[in-house]
Amino acid sequence: MRKKLQRFKDNAASNNVIEEGKPLYSTIKGQWGTDYFQNNHPITLELGCGYGEYTIQLAALCPAKNYIGIDLKGARLWKGSTLALEQQLQHVAFLRTRIEQLEQFFSPGEVQEIYIPFPDPRPKKSDINKRLTSPPFLDIYRRIMSPGGWLYFKTDDLDLFHYTLEVLQAQPDVQRLFHTHDCYQGSNILGEATNVQTKYEMMFINQGKTIKYIHCQLRSA
Ligand SMILES: C[S@@+](CC[C@H](N)C(=O)[O-])C[C@H]1O[C@@H](n2cnc3c(N)ncnc32)[C@H](O)[C@@H]1O
Repeated sequence: MRKKLQRFKDNAASNNVIEEGKPLYSTIKGQWGTDYFQNNHPITLELGCGYGEYTIQLAALCPAKNYIGIDLKGARLWKGSTLALEQQLQHVAFLRTRIEQLEQFFSPGEVQEIYIPFPDPRPKKSDINKRLTSPPFLDIYRRIMSPGGWLYFKTDDLDLFHYTLEVLQAQPDVQRLFHTHDCYQGSNILGEATNVQTKYEMMFINQGKTIKYIHCQLRSA
């Protein structure tokens, strides 16, 4: 508990964590380039980022894009925030909010890419619209993404994988859809799917689970 409270204090003091109570929290929408990153590079989001492995590792490889990890759990964001500070990754931010609220923080077209690594599977039928790849969430993503924007999704959960694939295949504006039941097997091994492993991914791999992967352009270019 003390560790958690210390992490919350650190987040409150860190410039790279944007959360309720900080000035940018209510003014950043549409202003990420000018008010935070001080450049107009494309923006990549990692949704339900936990410790922010994609945000940190992609940012270290690619200084020409801006990266924002988003999660509602501050103690998890702390880890990514701390690593970004240690590695002096100035093109990284962490936003503490619910994904349902994304439109409070991003203007139409402000985001170019979205990663969704290992979202909660939400297996109950009554929770279907809480799945991060359900049509209501895709509509939110569409409203903040630029045309041609890419969506990347990974899961260990077969039902969520099939559900997500069906939902995406039914979207008229989805293009260049690619999927695999096991991103570490076969001739189609993609660096983008395998180069970064999150905490949950490592746990699932250790349990002998296969990692399913989908990418597509969510809005036609
Ligand atoms: C299963 S964990 C995966 C974490 C990380 N992506 C990984 O692969 O290690 C799901 C994460 O999504 C976050 N999350 C779930 N629903 C959310 C929501 N509606 N808004 C923001 N974050 C959410 C949780 O706090 C948790 O950190």
